[in-house]
Amino acid sequence: MTSSLATVAYIGATILFILSLGGLANPETARRGNVFGIIGMAIAVLATVAGPRVLPGGYPWIIGALVLGGSIGLFAAKKVQMTQMPELVALMHSLVGLAACLVGFASYVDTSTVFPTPAEKTIHEIEIYIGILIGAVTFSGSVIAFGKLSGKIGGKPLLLPARHWINLAGLLVVIWFGRAFLNAHGIADGMLPLLVMTVIALLFGIHMVMAIGGADMPVVVSMLNSYSGWAAAATGFMLSNDLLIVVGALVGSSGAILSYILCRAMNRNVISVIAGGFGTGGGAPAASGGTAQPAGEVSPIVAAETAELLREAKNVIIVPGYGMAVAQAQHTVFEITKLLRDKGVNVRFGIHPVAGRMPGHMNVLLAEAKVPYDIVLEMDEINADFPDTDVSMVIGANDIVNPAAQDDPTSPIAGMPVLEVWKAKTSIVMKRSMASGYAGVDNPLFYKDNNRMLFGDAKKMLDEVLSALKA
Ligand code: TAP
Repeated sequence: MTSSLATVAYIGATILFILSLGGLANPETARRGNVFGIIGMAIAVLATVAGPRVLPGGYPWIIGALVLGGSIGLFAAKKVQMTQMPELVALMHSLVGLAACLVGFASYVDTSTVFPTPAEKTIHEIEIYIGILIGAVTFSGSVIAFGKLSGKIGGKPLLLPARHWINLAGLLVVIWFGRAFLNAHGIADGMLPLLVMTVIALLFGIHMVMAIGGADMPVVVSMLNSYSGWAAAATGFMLSNDLLIVVGALVGSSGAILSYILCRAMNRNVISVIAGGFGTGGGAPAASGGTAQPAGEVSPIVAAETAELLREAKNVIIVPGYGMAVAQAQHTVFEITKLLRDKGVNVRFGIHPVAGRMPGHMNVLLAEAKVPYDIVLEMDEINADFPDTDVSMVIGANDIVNPAAQDDPTSPIAGMPVLEVWKAKTSIVMKRSMASGYAGVDNPLFYKDNNRMLFGDAKKMLDEVLSALKA
């Protein structure tokens, strides 16, 4: 493939990636967006492999890597459960970071490139230094995020004394060694500053994510997503690959926008999240998920009574959370919704921006179960309607309906906006036990006078409610 044809293919792939991002912005067009993304990626890989920069001797390596990587990807896609997607995504971000580091070191030791002027050589070395820096932070941060999301590492934030000063000292050392790297005479001379910076960047990535506690992980995951985009863009600069630069910048900026949106939705400051972790500032650090001790009396309810309350209601708001995803209860939720709507009950859904374990988690599940989009509302659109609601039904959600976020300034989730389900005439919380949610804090909602607890697996309980409604 000639270089001009490869450039045309790259432009086509870039357009497809932009269309893909546009499509993914809405559940109705998300499938089409995915198809655009797949075609764009296929074109990009083909144009790169068949392009002028790959020598025939490289084909066995490339094919071997494609077969190995493709098989691992296929295996993971088939095996991974929907609830494990966030940790898989975190792991994939780590690979982008690792690739940026490896490409950076390979570019540095590669002596085949001749730079016409010393300035161009310096620019290339700055690209290498920054590329490895972003790659190393992304790599180690994503590995820790994977550990936290999969429960292999506890959710409790690690708060080192003077942690902000440690970060600042790390930054100054990185700048100092950057100067030494650029002034180095030869590869051997520059390797030490490069390695020291890499180790500091790896430690910073670990420190940054270990310090995140409470319910703040969504922001970190989307921020690492953004970093992985910038790491890819940096790789593009090192390899002089325009497509990687453009695609990296697309991922980097869309991840940054998502982080900003999540921070606003959770009433957090982006800088304070990066520097210190939320779930730690105002009060006691959150324990890892499921450990807070329940305090108070609760009123249990059974499925038949729940069905009775729903049947008599005029307005119902359903609030799904992580437990609905675990139980895979979305299809029964749809059946119940359909049945109630056929009976004239106004059923709507309230979606919290960080419900579940990844952005849009609940929207994806509800769309999969064919719940109409027009009754699925964002938190801001529906929160004012709870006082006029007869029954609010919480399905496997916990942190996102915790009134302590509003009432208790010492709570690790203080200040986070929540769905005010307790303002309905009756709220029903469906979960298996009194265990806490991801942030590890107790939920005073459970002890409110107008709240009932429907204990059990969400799918099983909803099946029973559905049978009772049909009876
Ligand atoms: P959580 O607060 O984690 O609560 C989920 C609840 O579901 C648990 O208390 C659990 O209680 C219950 N549950 C689990 N399996 C169940 C099953 N089979 N049937 C019925 N209930 C079940 O979830 P949430 O309210 O959706 O809040 C999300 C939390 O995750 C927030 O803290 C958020 O910050 C964090 N987070 C979100 C993201 C994104 S981007 N969405 C990413 C990382 C972290 P039992 O064990 O008693 O059943």
